[in-house]
Amino acid sequence: MRLYIFGLVLLGLDLVSARLVGVPTIPFEETGGEYPLSQLKEIIVDTRYAHDVDADGETLIPPTLDQFSRTFQGDLFSSLGVDLPLGYNIMPSADSIFITVRNSTGFHDAAGRWTSEGYELEINDDGIIIYGASPLGAWWGTRSLIQMAVLGDTTLPVGSGVDAPGWGTRGVMLDVGRHYYPPGFIVEMCSYLSFFKQNLFHLHLSDNIDNNVDLYTREESLSLYAAFRPWSDNPAVAGLNRRPNESYTLSEFDDMQRQCASRGVTILPEIESPGHALVIVQWKPELGLADLSMLNISYPETIPTVKTIWETFLPWFHSKTVHIGADEYESGLVDDYTMLVNEMNDYIRTESGKNMRIWGTFTPEEGANVSTEVSIQHWEFFEDNPYWDYIMNGYEVLNSDDAFYIVDGWSGSYPQILNKTRVFYGAPDGGPYAPNIFDTSNATNNPPRDNPFVLGHVAATWNDYGPNSSAVLNAYYGWRDVLPALGDKQWGGNLLEDEYDSIFETLHAVIPGQNLDRWIASESKDTILSYQFSSGKTDVVKDESGNGYDGLLHGCTVTNSVLNLADGCYVETPLGSKGRNYTLSFSVKPTSTTPGTLFSGPDSALLNGNGTISNVTLVTGGNPYSLNYSLPLNTWTDVQLIGRGNQTFLGVSSPSNGTVSTMEFLARLGDDGTLLVWTSIGIEAPLARIGEGFTGLMKDIVLSG
Ligand SMILES: *[C@@H]1O[C@H](CO)[C@@H](O)[C@H](O)[C@H]1NC(C)=O
Ligand SMILES: *[C@@H]1O[C@H](CO)[C@@H](O)[C@H](O)[C@H]1NC(C)=O
Ligand SMILES: *[C@@H]1O[C@H](CO)[C@@H](O)[C@H](O)[C@H]1NC(C)=O
Ligand SMILES: *[C@@H]1O[C@H](CO)[C@@H](O)[C@H](O)[C@H]1NC(C)=O
Ligand SMILES: *[C@@H]1O[C@H](CO)[C@@H](O)[C@H](O)[C@H]1NC(C)=O
Ligand SMILES: *[C@@H]1O[C@H](CO)[C@@H](O)[C@H](O)[C@H]1NC(C)=O
Ligand SMILES: *[C@@H]1O[C@H](CO)[C@@H](O)[C@H](O)[C@H]1NC(C)=O
Ligand SMILES: *[C@@H]1O[C@H](CO)[C@@H](O)[C@H](O)[C@H]1NC(C)=O
Ligand SMILES: *[C@@H]1O[C@H](CO)[C@@H](O)[C@H](O)[C@H]1NC(C)=O
Ligand SMILES: *[C@@H]1O[C@H](CO)[C@@H](O)[C@H](O)[C@H]1NC(C)=O
Ligand SMILES: *[C@@H]1O[C@H](CO)[C@@H](O)[C@H](O)[C@H]1NC(C)=O
Ligand SMILES: *[C@@H]1O[C@H](CO)[C@@H](O)[C@H](O)[C@H]1NC(C)=O
Repeated sequence: MRLYIFGLVLLGLDLVSARLVGVPTIPFEETGGEYPLSQLKEIIVDTRYAHDVDADGETLIPPTLDQFSRTFQGDLFSSLGVDLPLGYNIMPSADSIFITVRNSTGFHDAAGRWTSEGYELEINDDGIIIYGASPLGAWWGTRSLIQMAVLGDTTLPVGSGVDAPGWGTRGVMLDVGRHYYPPGFIVEMCSYLSFFKQNLFHLHLSDNIDNNVDLYTREESLSLYAAFRPWSDNPAVAGLNRRPNESYTLSEFDDMQRQCASRGVTILPEIESPGHALVIVQWKPELGLADLSMLNISYPETIPTVKTIWETFLPWFHSKTVHIGADEYESGLVDDYTMLVNEMNDYIRTESGKNMRIWGTFTPEEGANVSTEVSIQHWEFFEDNPYWDYIMNGYEVLNSDDAFYIVDGWSGSYPQILNKTRVFYGAPDGGPYAPNIFDTSNATNNPPRDNPFVLGHVAATWNDYGPNSSAVLNAYYGWRDVLPALGDKQWGGNLLEDEYDSIFETLHAVIPGQNLDRWIASESKDTILSYQFSSGKTDVVKDESGNGYDGLLHGCTVTNSVLNLADGCYVETPLGSKGRNYTLSFSVKPTSTTPGTLFSGPDSALLNGNGTISNVTLVTGGNPYSLNYSLPLNTWTDVQLIGRGNQTFLGVSSPSNGTVSTMEFLARLGDDGTLLVWTSIGIEAPLARIGEGFTGLMKDIVLSG
């Protein structure tokens, strides 16, 4: 069945353009006929450009045309099952995908400027040619090709099209300062972004939970949660980062940047000061203002200290732009603020040649006189009017308006998932959102679409309530269903909501380089894994689901279909985690009060007590979520760990009296001492190991989806 949809869409008043449905939409003129992928024999990289790189993009480590092509070769196989050899020549051969570089008319952005991210796609009876404006442009062309092939059920329409992004900066920001995210998650998110042609992952690397000065004493403020994620052994910053296990080392940060760059996504780092800087003040308390989350800029050691931090970490960063935060500072100290921002701009430029960005905070009208070399990331109209305060004064502005803010876990003012209605109808006139729409209700505050000072759009997710307010993968679920649609608008596509709804899950199922859903392949829809411990070899636990996910016994014994867990023995499975939705059921009989692990995996662990308390506890991201419940000793209990959307439950029933009860694992949100709210939390099922530390019996382990 051919699923792709050909459309004629009215753009503006009289411009009519043909395009295919994709995310983003793909400009394409069909000339009749089809080309089946099964006819393809090889991928050919143009020898003349194989080692070219795009010098215009945000990254300083751009892949070559050859490297991008090899990643594409792997993606063709993982997304479509098409396994093609890759070779080099200066021209296509019959039934090849020829990947090359050339300049075409139409490679321009919304402001009419040439962009290296453009590409041209040509499909004829002989095969396919992707012409990139640069290797990066060709890479975006490969994304279009995969999407077309998936939606067209491996058949492509014959024809051609020229495509280019309207804006050069497209992506997301994640607050990794108030909540730690492991490098693997960042890399998988880059793969996600890349499939929809988003090119920026902004990491907010340092922050603290709200230092409520009316509530906290100085001592309390100094012990509030605050974190600085990069980890350096440089003695000059010793003590700044006090969380070695929740950090990015140089090699981890380097690897994240390289893996993201390999799919056309640049990591843009932010180290925040002079506000949201409690972590710096906890390190050097003499640098703080009365509100210890703010630096006292007039204190002689303050700016040198900020420079020392940047001196240490600038060499780590492979982006052309870095972000110094400069958000939400003391309103009486605008001159100090201007001084810090301008000194840091001069310093960073001189030291590294990089550009610098800040959050929109003080406007020229409020007395700020920040160099126009500094670009501004607008987030809220109560801080600034991006068009009239900044663009009209010669500043480049990146749109991060809080129309697309998320606060994970819970918030009094922001949602936990992106708003799809706003993507498709968020312009003041009810039309689609776009990077030049700063204000969704008042068009006077929005520059024209072709204004060259609008850099693009970045949707931000914050962790105002700290490290235990949500699970790592929750950040993905806030974006999962709607970010690709926003990606269409960031690119400048013209996808309609019903078109998006009709193709999203089909495309989602093939996104290469990630398994953020923690999906597990299964023959049967219901049972993914079933360990009945009924028979077989001594060290193998047979999976009776039919999926063949057999386990291995490490020191444990099996008697009469019952697994005997003792002395740290465990069962190793070939699985890691199962994401939403799942039910993991098992029967368990603890025979000792010694706490132990029931199940563990890369994203979570289910514990029978932690050493101090006996409560059943789920751990994710290093944070424990305990129930008011303990498994009864020397009694069989039937247990179900249940993941349903963003909720996680434990169902228990006692075979002796049949009582069933279901309890929910909840996150307790609030700063030290003040409980704000209990909120639900979605936690992946832990599957890699069964047992390890737990003493007792277990049987009838079944995972269903
Ligand atoms: C491509 O052509 C345009 C004019 O159409 C020009 O502005 C641009 O610099 C050219 N780019 C390259 C890489 O040659
Ligand atoms: C900030 O530092 C200046 C210079 O050392 C000092 O005079 C001032 O009292 C400090 N402000 C606060 C609030 O500590
Ligand atoms: C702003 O800074 C520039 C560059 O340093 C300077 O020339 C200008 O006089 C300043 N403007 C104001 C109002 O202070
Ligand atoms: C959980 O999902 C529901 C329904 O989508 C939503 O209303 C709620 O805000 C979400 N809660 C959290 C903690 O994300
Ligand atoms: C989503 O956005 C639309 C359009 O801006 C708005 O009317 C609606 O209230 C928003 N929904 C939520 C849940 O915020
Ligand atoms: C729209 O924005 C303009 C410019 O900021 C302002 O003057 C006007 O009052 C706003 N209109 C409304 C209805 O808020
Ligand atoms: C177990 O959990 C309790 C309650 O959260 C906590 O006070 C205690 O420190 C934990 N013990 C260990 C060993 O983690
Ligand atoms: C890091 O170590 C601390 C202290 O042992 C612990 O509380 C935290 O859970 C760990 N974090 C992770 C992500 O494992
Ligand atoms: C553990 O469970 C008991 C009730 O069995 C409850 O009082 C206690 O608050 C729980 N501890 C935690 C950390 O949830
Ligand atoms: C998971 O369960 C929730 C709540 O019942 C439901 O809204 C959602 O669609 C389910 N997700 C999947 C992938 O089945
Ligand atoms: C059923 O058995 C469980 C586990 O032994 C016990 O906690 C619970 O109180 C019993 N309920 C009734 C109604 O007897
Ligand atoms: C969650 O983290 C905060 C630090 O932000 C801490 O104060 C609080 O006690 C933690 N809550 C739980 C239930 O672990």
